[in-house]
Amino acid sequence: MKDASPQTIYLTDYTPPTYLVDQVDLTFRLSPNATRVISRIAFRPNPDAVSKRFFLHGEELTPISSSIDGAPVTPREVEGGIEVDVPDAPFVWEAEVEIAPAANTALEGLYMSNGMYCTQCEAEGFRKITWYPDRPDVMAPFKVRIEGDEPVMLSNGNPTGSGDGWTEWTDPWPKPAYLFALVAGDLVAREDSFTTMSGKHVDLKLWVRPGDEGKTAFGMEALKKSMKWDEDVYGREYDLDIFQIVAVSDFNMGAMENKGLNIFNTSAVLCSPETSTDANFERIEAIIAHEYFHNWTGNRITCRDWFQLSLKEGLTVFRDQSFSADMRSPSVCRISDVLSLRGRQFREDNGPLAHQVQPDSFVEINNFYTSTIYEKGAEVIRMLKTLVGDEGYKKALDLYFDRHDGQACTIDDWLTVFQDATGRDLGQFKRWYKQAGTPRLRVSEDWNDGTYQLTFTQTTPPTPGQEVKEPFVIPIAVGLIGPNGDEVVGTQVLEMTEGTQTFTFEGLAAKPVPSILRGFSAPVILERETSAQERAFLLANDTDEFNRWEAGRSLAKEVLTALITGKEAPQAIYFDALASVLREDHTDPDFRALALAIPSADDMAQTLFDSGVTPDPDVIHDATETLKQSRAEYFQDMLPRLLSEMTVTEPFAPTHEQAGKRALGHGILQMLTRLDGSKAAQALFDRADNMTLSLGALACLLNAGKADAALATFRDKWQDDALVMDKWFMLQVAHADPDKAAETVTRLTQDPAFTMKNPNRFRSVFGAFAGHPAGFHQKDGSGYRLLADWLIKLDPINPQITARMSGAFETWKRYDGDRQSLIADQLDRILATPGLSRDTTEMISRIRGA
Ligand code: BES
Ligand code: ZN
Repeated sequence: MKDASPQTIYLTDYTPPTYLVDQVDLTFRLSPNATRVISRIAFRPNPDAVSKRFFLHGEELTPISSSIDGAPVTPREVEGGIEVDVPDAPFVWEAEVEIAPAANTALEGLYMSNGMYCTQCEAEGFRKITWYPDRPDVMAPFKVRIEGDEPVMLSNGNPTGSGDGWTEWTDPWPKPAYLFALVAGDLVAREDSFTTMSGKHVDLKLWVRPGDEGKTAFGMEALKKSMKWDEDVYGREYDLDIFQIVAVSDFNMGAMENKGLNIFNTSAVLCSPETSTDANFERIEAIIAHEYFHNWTGNRITCRDWFQLSLKEGLTVFRDQSFSADMRSPSVCRISDVLSLRGRQFREDNGPLAHQVQPDSFVEINNFYTSTIYEKGAEVIRMLKTLVGDEGYKKALDLYFDRHDGQACTIDDWLTVFQDATGRDLGQFKRWYKQAGTPRLRVSEDWNDGTYQLTFTQTTPPTPGQEVKEPFVIPIAVGLIGPNGDEVVGTQVLEMTEGTQTFTFEGLAAKPVPSILRGFSAPVILERETSAQERAFLLANDTDEFNRWEAGRSLAKEVLTALITGKEAPQAIYFDALASVLREDHTDPDFRALALAIPSADDMAQTLFDSGVTPDPDVIHDATETLKQSRAEYFQDMLPRLLSEMTVTEPFAPTHEQAGKRALGHGILQMLTRLDGSKAAQALFDRADNMTLSLGALACLLNAGKADAALATFRDKWQDDALVMDKWFMLQVAHADPDKAAETVTRLTQDPAFTMKNPNRFRSVFGAFAGHPAGFHQKDGSGYRLLADWLIKLDPINPQITARMSGAFETWKRYDGDRQSLIADQLDRILATPGLSRDTTEMISRIRGA
């Protein structure tokens, strides 16, 4: 029943389900090695069907019995499931199967984590639980009875009964099987409640293992804020009597939006000041919001098929980004979102894994939960909102919920809603969904007697399977700054629709400095030749915070590029402009911290590659070190004062204000550590009473090569806290000397606390390794071999994580021939592994480009 040869699925092959489901009744008799799942499913023929074939998905199920309308039947086993002859009329299918959750290490379907039962069904995990039409356009109400001796046994919807050894749950809202969830184990809840805008009382429960209660307060607050925000901003109210979140230690993703019963990776919900960093708090708030927001954008309105994944994920990311912007600082959030977009999505778009926001085909859907579907999908919605305006967006969203509530929809449905609500033709806009690749936007300017012109040219490079691209509609937000630093033309959105287009501004007294792509109004690469002086001017004067930061960023890149390629670097201009920003008391410390951050090695590698230079990770590493050292020396005098200004004296709170001070404080401490023999870092490590400071100090000590004692103390203190130990593992790899990184990884994998069965632990080590280019890309190929060894070992245990981690190789074509051939050898070795999973096979072969 397991797929033998990977098959490609095509969007154009979509056909409606042959049978629809009116009701699902499930009974689970829990047992670690032999759980029985008894299903009773009411089917009826779909009037829109184009065939009469009755097929149910099923994988790794041991059949016990099955019947139709009470009469036993013997299904035919076919690829990926079973076929049965059924009446051309409504009927009831009943089946009993056996599954083994304790043996399920792939963490998909029903599995055990840390002694508790839990499920992960998106995208296609429900078929590992029972026979079912496991496709998102089959929606049905579920009733679930759980039998077992676990103290807590949960499923979706409202509790409708319980007794000795059983509980019953009823979810009245029709849902696809991927939103099914079951959790059972020894759990305790933080309880709270929320009253919805129409006055409905909702019980809130956040379930954790005993001992973790102290890490639930922030998550619960985040949930209530999310519920309120969705009412205030989108008019969306919660729709069950209870909303539950469960924290699970072994989880492939961050979190999952199962109806009424979200399941979270412990790392994505549990936090406390002692054990979690500001970044953890921020991510947790966003992810709780994200999964909660799916209740409307994903659950009430779901996807017709997995080609429409961005319909729910792009939109929900856009919603969680807007929420975070409202909770924190809009410009700082925007900068972080763009950093992540460039670091992940632009990287993807530039390599062998580039694909459309709405792909035409896939092999393994789990491999398509990508930055393009998520982050570019969110950018596309952001642009749509910019183009139709706030009012138009609101009208469209109201119409979307009105028209499609309870349905499984397509991206075309979504665009039609916008067309109907705003009267705007979105034919050209749809290219953002159907053409892969990051557009390059070249700008030239012209000044003539009071008239200023900007001419833009867009080109999008070829991507796998798409040679030629048509022009996109690009909203370009532009403002003009006069020579004295005043804004002479406020932000306007230019709508570019052609390959080349000129925009004219009249009646200006002097030639302005343009501030282009304000707020990063479109996911494009802006190519503009300007002087370092002009960027320093924008860093000092732009009223758009994003573009202020962007000006500093491109200055930093120019300096680094010059150092790497042995040219003269405009270092003094950069340092002086940055120093002024750092001294701006009235400017958000978090913004200043972002202005101080130096572009990552991966970013620099891509930047060099784009400009025709073959990047060498060792050289990038050394140049970055040189820049950091000379910058620290240049800023020497201002550091102590700034550091003391950034010291938070109030008790720890994970607020934007405090977090910003700690972030800038850390940036300063990094510089100081290069100058003071790491005295300040050691002192901070010794007295830190929260994880943000403690980890920040530890990172500085690692950079200085003086962390041995601190690492031991840290480990002693936190050995029983898995999430903190993940940080201990991660940090040592991330801050290893390039030529010691592989050794460090090997040493850590031999640590008794290392296990590859836990995705968080595996990712701590190997995610950090892949994120350390100079360590990973050692010339002798040792890094490639080491990662390949572990991917081969992990694949039979957890194919999803293996496939995801293969992404470490996705940028291989940037590098020199020697490195490329070393990587090719490892890719081929992985591909030659007998029994390699479909997930990993697809990823490695796409990367290899066979
Ligand atoms: N629906 C996804 C979780 C998921 C993804 C399940 C892939 C199965 C396969 C969930 O809503 C999600 O997107 N989670 C993200 C976090 C979010 C804040 C972007 C995650 O888990 O990383
Ligand atoms: Zn999501």
